[in-house]
Parts: sequence; structure tokens; C-alpha cells
Amino acid sequence: GKGTYPHYMLKEVDEQPAVMRRLLTEYVDDAGQMKIDPAILKAIDDADRIYIVAAGTSYHAGLIGQSLFEKLAEKPVEVHVASEFGYHMPILSKKPFFIFLTQSGETADSRQVLVQTNRLGYPSLTITNSQGSTLSREANYTLLLHAGPEIAVASTKAYTAQIAVELFLAVALGRHTAIKAAQDFDVNHELALVATGMETLLSEKQAIEDFTTMYLKTTRNAFYIGRGEDYALSLEAALKLKEISYIQAEGFAAGELKHGTIALIEDGTPVMAFLTDAKTIDHTRGNLQEVRARGAKTLTIVSEDHAQAGDQVVLPNVNPLLAPLLGIIPGQLIAYYASLQRGYDVDQPRNLAKSVTVE
Ligand code: M6R
Repeated sequence: GKGTYPHYMLKEVDEQPAVMRRLLTEYVDDAGQMKIDPAILKAIDDADRIYIVAAGTSYHAGLIGQSLFEKLAEKPVEVHVASEFGYHMPILSKKPFFIFLTQSGETADSRQVLVQTNRLGYPSLTITNSQGSTLSREANYTLLLHAGPEIAVASTKAYTAQIAVELFLAVALGRHTAIKAAQDFDVNHELALVATGMETLLSEKQAIEDFTTMYLKTTRNAFYIGRGEDYALSLEAALKLKEISYIQAEGFAAGELKHGTIALIEDGTPVMAFLTDAKTIDHTRGNLQEVRARGAKTLTIVSEDHAQAGDQVVLPNVNPLLAPLLGIIPGQLIAYYASLQRGYDVDQPRNLAKSVTVE
């Protein structure tokens, strides 16, 4: 049940630090070695490219996974939306390996791709919260999310759990092939910091609630912007907002604003920016100035190291590769409060099912 919580979503958002710690006990031993079946590592090592296939929030977790695999294992990765990939399959590399990310393990769009890759004889791994689910049974390998049941339609703890499991796999894979970045990555330490950082953010909900009351309670639209992983975060934060608050919310690559979207900015339009990627923070701050000059109400979500006077949400410092695990927390909370304040059913939004079993 939801215990003393008014909604499952809030309970599941609050569970995320505990899920991070549980995942550490499931996947990492005291010496910092990953507990992952070596057959999985060998199968991925044998492949020349990883294809991540998923839908919705799981697709967004795949975008973060891409950087983890590229940076920690130096493995080329493509991430695809399942419903597109199935019918417009690109020319594949010579030896592809498929990773299906799916909380439920029952998403029809993802399954139809797995049916095809099985027919073509390509090896696959399903990362899922649901042992014994269809995609788990039909793939060669499974890694579990151990997030506990996720009841709210808006996926929260499954997203951060997916990123953590991708991290374990990327580190294990990188070490398997002697990549220094993976050898040096102290998973126990870094993820423990993330769990603590999540707790700090979750103890500061009031500021998020206040911003939401001021700028999102009655707005028609809203934008999230960022670059690189901050762009991937923007897509996920915008999806959360859309599905439960019904605000037309979009995530944009910050640099693309000036190529068209900035025309939509009016007096009072909320624009939220993720600023965790050192290389691009200054550029994104420039984009914020441009939208502010056109009347936008802005919110900055920034890593502690890069925070300046006037920044609103400061994310405790963690390894930059793991910043999305903290960055998404304010995004989830903004969606929660916006839905609540606008009087909607937070856990059961209109037109949506928890698991989408039709194509
Ligand atoms: O169970 P899956 O991870 O395969 O589900 C994929 C999407 O349907 C799901 O993430 C959906 O986008 C959520 N409602 C987002 O909050």
C-alpha cells in the first residue's frame, strides 16, 4: 500500500535512495567488484555495437546509459525508440547486441523488436523490474531493477534504477576489457554519495513546491532545456510533466532554441534548465538569458560545483557521470506538485495505462 503517503508517486520518488542502496548490495561486493554473470560481459564484448531499445521513460534512461557505456566501456551505442525501430530498422552493425530496457517487461512495442532480433539470431539482454515477464523470458539474459513494485503510472524509481544498472554493466564491461575509466570508478563510493544526495534533495521539497505554485499552476506550456545528458534529462522531466499535469511541456536541446522554438517564449513562460555538464553550462546559461529577455520565468537546476548566486535548485556534488540521478529528482517533484495543484489524479492520469501492451 501507500502507507501514510497521499500518492504512490510521492512514495516511489522518496524510495529512490533506498533503491540505490539495495542495488549496491545486489550488484556490487565489498571489494567493489560487480556481481554480473560473466557470460553477459562476454556476449557484449563479442559484439561491435550495443543497441538499446525502449519506450517512454525507459528510452530516456537508455540515453543516459549511452554515455555510461561510451565513457566507461568505450563501446559504441545506439539508442532507439522501440515503436520506430521495429518498422524502420536501420542498417545494423556486423555484430549487434541488444539491450531492452523495460520496467514492466511487457511493453508490446519493445517486444515486437525482440521477436525480430530473436528471429535474426542476435543476442539480447532485458533490464526489467519484473522477473518472469515476457521480455525477460524471451531475451538471452536478464538483469533485474530490484526497485520494488512501481504502481504510479509516472515512472520514477524505475528510471533511476535503470541508470544504476546500466552503470554496473558499463563498469563491469569496461573492466572486462581493461578500460581505465572503469577500473578507477569506485561504484560503492559514488553511488552511496548519490543516495545521500537524493536524500538531501528530497528533504527540500518546499522550494520546488513554491516554484510550481508560482509558475506552473496555470501555465499552458513549459520548457526544459539542457545539452548532452542535460538534454536527455530535459526529455524525461518534460515527459513527467506532460503525463500527469497535462501541461504541454517539451524538452529541448538548449542550443536548438534559437533555431525556432524560442518563438514560443512569452511573458511568464516557464523555462527550466539542467546545468550539470561542465562543458556546456556557460552556453546554456546564455540561452537562459535569451529566454529571460523575452519574459520567461526560469528555474536553474545546477550541480553544486557550478552554482552561482541566484541559482535555485542546487544538486549535491556527485561524480558528473551520475549527475542525472540527482537532476531528475526536482523534475519528478515539479511534475508531482503541478499535477496536485491543478487538481488531477496524480497516480492514474487520463488516457494512460501503467503498462502498454498494444503496439
Ligand atoms: O514498462 P516500460 O518501461 O517498458 O514502459 C515504457 C513506457 O510505457 C513508460 O516508461 C511510460 O513512458 C511511463 N508512463 C513514463 O512515466
